[in-house]
Amino acid sequence: MTLQSFDLTGKVALVTGANTGLGQGIALALAEAGADIAAVGRSAPGQTQARVEALGRRFAFVEAALDTIAPVADIVAQVVARLGRFDILVNNAGTIRRNDALDFTEDDWDAVIGVNLKTLFFLSQAAGRHWVAQGQGGKIVNIASMLSFQGGIRVASYTASKSGVLGLTRLLANEWAARGINVNAIAPGYFATSNTEALRQDADRNRAILERIPAGRWGVPADLAGAAVFLSSAASDYVHGAVLPVDGGWLAR
Ligand SMILES: NC(=O)c1ccc[n+]([C@@H]2O[C@H](COP(=O)([O-])OP(=O)(O)OC[C@H]3O[C@@H](n4cnc5c(N)ncnc54)[C@H](OP(=O)(O)O)[C@@H]3O)[C@@H](O)[C@H]2O)c1
Repeated sequence: MTLQSFDLTGKVALVTGANTGLGQGIALALAEAGADIAAVGRSAPGQTQARVEALGRRFAFVEAALDTIAPVADIVAQVVARLGRFDILVNNAGTIRRNDALDFTEDDWDAVIGVNLKTLFFLSQAAGRHWVAQGQGGKIVNIASMLSFQGGIRVASYTASKSGVLGLTRLLANEWAARGINVNAIAPGYFATSNTEALRQDADRNRAILERIPAGRWGVPADLAGAAVFLSSAASDYVHGAVLPVDGGWLAR
């Protein structure tokens, strides 16, 4: 009975940035748990489509550049038109700019805040409006960061955006919990994706990061599978506004 509450059979999950990295890992995990997948992003879905379909799930790609909210109003409608329903939103797409605070530009600021925070909010709003109009509940899983809790270095707009994601997760949970909409977040630690390539190529930073991770290794996308399925499923129906670190112990240090 308990295990059945993790089952996502018959659900449709919209995952932004599912073509690669953590978004791909999350999409595959939700598909393994039974969900059909709508991948939303600006790049072709790559291997994600074939791997989701190999699991026996349906897959739709909705092309949308998420650095502005222009496409947002239409995304949920497209997902429903293609896959028949919409139950889970994973706000994963994100970007990062690295520069000293003294040299940080307006473009470094706007590019990151736009996709990581503004689009995340307005896509969540579109999801909430859909679920309220349908009289159904829903699940939102935001991808936060260690920099939702810590300051970081040389990533001013990223830290601002991910700290903002933590606040918005709590705000939306407060407003929507009574409507049967769960809004929670996963805070990944240090994962080997293109987002962290610069860090891993810097031998000093790479060593310093590894020394601080109690688990002793970088995360891989599959490490998020359990948390993603939990927060997308009925197993988390009474979990609202929570942030689940999946960080190899980084925050405990
Ligand atoms: N890797 C880590 O250690 C780590 C840690 C904590 C949090 N995160 C977060 O996890 C999420 C996924 O990152 P990742 O590590 O998997 O990095 P990634 O491999 O660089 O993937 C980022 C994804 O976001 C998409 N994206 C970025 N800007 C976009 C835009 N303007 N419009 C549409 N899609 C856009 C990318 O699409 P394209 O392929 O088209 O660029 C890609 O699908 C991000 O929110 C990131 O901040 C990562």
